[in-house]
Amino acid sequence: MPAHGFEAEVPLALTDEVRAKTDHLYDRVANLIPRLEWDLHAPTIARINDLKVEKNAVILAHNYMTPDIFYAVGDFRGDSLQLAKEAAATDAQVIVQAGVHFMAETSKILSPEKTVLIPSMEAGCSLASSITGADVRLLKQRYPGVPVVTYVNTTADVKAETDICCTSSNAVQVVEHICAEWGTDQVILIPDQYLARNVAAMTDKKVITWAGACEVHERFTAEDIREIRAGNPGVVVLAHPECPPEVLAEADFAGSTSAMSGYVKTEQPKNVVLITECSMSDNVALENPGVEFVRPCNLCPHMKRITLENILHALETMTHEVHVDPVIAEKARLAVQRMVDLPLSGPATNFRPHADRDVIAIEHR
Ligand code: 13P
Ligand code: SF4
Repeated sequence: MPAHGFEAEVPLALTDEVRAKTDHLYDRVANLIPRLEWDLHAPTIARINDLKVEKNAVILAHNYMTPDIFYAVGDFRGDSLQLAKEAAATDAQVIVQAGVHFMAETSKILSPEKTVLIPSMEAGCSLASSITGADVRLLKQRYPGVPVVTYVNTTADVKAETDICCTSSNAVQVVEHICAEWGTDQVILIPDQYLARNVAAMTDKKVITWAGACEVHERFTAEDIREIRAGNPGVVVLAHPECPPEVLAEADFAGSTSAMSGYVKTEQPKNVVLITECSMSDNVALENPGVEFVRPCNLCPHMKRITLENILHALETMTHEVHVDPVIAEKARLAVQRMVDLPLSGPATNFRPHADRDVIAIEHR
């Protein structure tokens, strides 16, 4: 049995057929992955891509997947919002989520008739595990008449208690939209206290939040950014809005993973640092060979649970299938679908902190 613990159903070897099927994919990652290393992956990649055709499956790959997954087997690549939209739109019968569990649940909620697979049941999220549906019910009792906006990084039972979902790419627009619809200037935005504080800085709405945090982004500090700038004069700093506001205050641009990627593509800075998960820099660098990347980053242990080997195992054995209780799924679908249906206009949000605007409360259990 190989070290990763999965025995492929068909013996995998680097044959001429495998080379013919994968050489064009290697071109996408050749600037990063040595040929010898690629040759180890190529049989698995070829088998995964064959199985996708056999089983009418697509792989939705989040921007934090490693480049072998992202570029060689991912059919759709993007941030949480883009992947949710693909999950709703695809004709494929099977969705393999190359991301974390809440993303797979979101896909299942949007496409209940499809088989949704997550290659590792251990691919969780510190935000999703910070709050439960019961917590949201208590919040609603504490703040009657205040709409609840929930970040997609939550479980289905939390979404089911929610008026509308958001992601980091549309959070400001969603908050403005729901407040206008409800005729109120207060909103509950949970569970990421930092995203909520960064959204509060961009709107005049009164934001109540929850004491959750992303274990990857909360570790960055303003001092980290100052040190990076001191060591790399002229570097352009891009940060994810799950980082604390003090970090965003030191950045040149702050937006979702796809917004950061779009910034690099259009602006082509001479050198850049992405204050986010490590694989982002690898993936964005491959598409922007003229840009130099400064590499401090934090790994997400949950995203890194997904590997080529367990994607292959998922497709061969049709595991682990994601199920959501139909009653919860139907309620959660309304909240996710409302977000998906919102027309997003204008350029990606660049989160700019306003020193005089912050959340009005950070609630906890
Ligand atoms: P986005 O891809 O929506 O920016 O979210 C990042 C994230 O933390 C996913 O886990
Ligand atoms: Fe969750 Fe943070 Fe990992 Fe995203 S990066 S999956 S928010 S722990």
